[in-house]
Amino acid sequence: MSKLAWIDEELNTLHESGLYNNIRALGSPQGAWLNIDGKKVLNFCSNNYLGLANHPKIREAAKNAIDKMGVGPGAVRTIAGTMELHVELDRRLAKFKGVGSAITFQSGFTANLAVIPALVGKPDVIFSDELNHASIIDGSRLSGAKIIRFKHANPQDLKLQLENHRSDYRRALVITDGVFSMDGDIAPLNKIYDVSKDFDASLMVDDAHGEGVMGKGGRGIVDHFDLHGKVDVEVGTMSKAFGVMGGVVAGNSKIVEWLHQRGRPFLFSSAMTVPDVAACIAAIDILEESTELVDKLWANGKLFQSEMQNLGFDTGKSVTPITPVMLGEAEIAQKFSKELFDENVFGMSIAFPTVPRGKARIRVMISAAHSSSDLEHGLAAFEKVGKRLGLI
Ligand SMILES: Cc1ncc(COP(=O)(O)O)c(C=O)c1O
Repeated sequence: MSKLAWIDEELNTLHESGLYNNIRALGSPQGAWLNIDGKKVLNFCSNNYLGLANHPKIREAAKNAIDKMGVGPGAVRTIAGTMELHVELDRRLAKFKGVGSAITFQSGFTANLAVIPALVGKPDVIFSDELNHASIIDGSRLSGAKIIRFKHANPQDLKLQLENHRSDYRRALVITDGVFSMDGDIAPLNKIYDVSKDFDASLMVDDAHGEGVMGKGGRGIVDHFDLHGKVDVEVGTMSKAFGVMGGVVAGNSKIVEWLHQRGRPFLFSSAMTVPDVAACIAAIDILEESTELVDKLWANGKLFQSEMQNLGFDTGKSVTPITPVMLGEAEIAQKFSKELFDENVFGMSIAFPTVPRGKARIRVMISAAHSSSDLEHGLAAFEKVGKRLGLI
């Protein structure tokens, strides 16, 4: 038997349980509509919240930067990979977020892998929301600290865990996602802060889905709760609302200085590319100029959710433009997604293990790029398929 036969077995299990990832390739830029397999479909799947991924100003900035500075950084940030552009992006992000300093990484995922092990180690403890993102889980495991999960978005349970365990460890770090991307609900960050501060614990929020979405002009969940100066670490990504690529840790200047010395993906993986950095700066320019796109995103989200509820769909507990359309069993969600595609709507089904069993859904990612006629097209398709499957 081949030494890799186990992979076939594992893949078969994924196929049989309906969990195999069938990846669709896009033949067009990110936008309200996509070209997939030669077919034009309404895009209800991307994290391109503000429609910036193919924005003319951002494309232009990336092209100009390539003409001036080339493409690759050529090195890690600590050796020869820090260009003036990187320093400018770090500075602009700090100003945009209203924090002391910011440091960028290749992605939001590597930002989490950098910051968590830099702040806590073996003698320490992490209190982590049970639904935190995979990159927080991996960063936490990498740190070697004891991981204690608290009930989702539940400051009372966090308090209980802190009371029971905090004193057994040296340093403590409380970590929560800001916006939980599967349900569109948010962390009660103000209450989590109130609890954490009494236990000498640092507080970190991963605002990947709040960056460019929550707060004034998209300044994030810390701004939304007016917790400036109280949250020690804000992790963010430029791969979602900013429409580009890259991760950031923003917050206390001392922590950022420490990450320049001890953030391993900063020291041991090459810097962000030139066009990515220039594109991120252009995205900040757009966000600082006007709140128009952020306002449109929220208006689109509210309209879509209320119309879906009028049609009789359950849109879960979302308080953001992320719209989970709760369908129950995985097979139903998969069938729904296929039939939506036949109606020229690209809406992915999400099932166990990404969400609990029996809570499968189509997760609709609303964007400022959607026009009202796009939303009408999507609503009509949901109505048609929902009625055909006897769900509404
Ligand atoms: C909460 C959270 N953190 C981090 C990431 C990773 O971000 P990136 O795509 O920039 O690596 C994601 C993306 O899915 C996320 O949802």
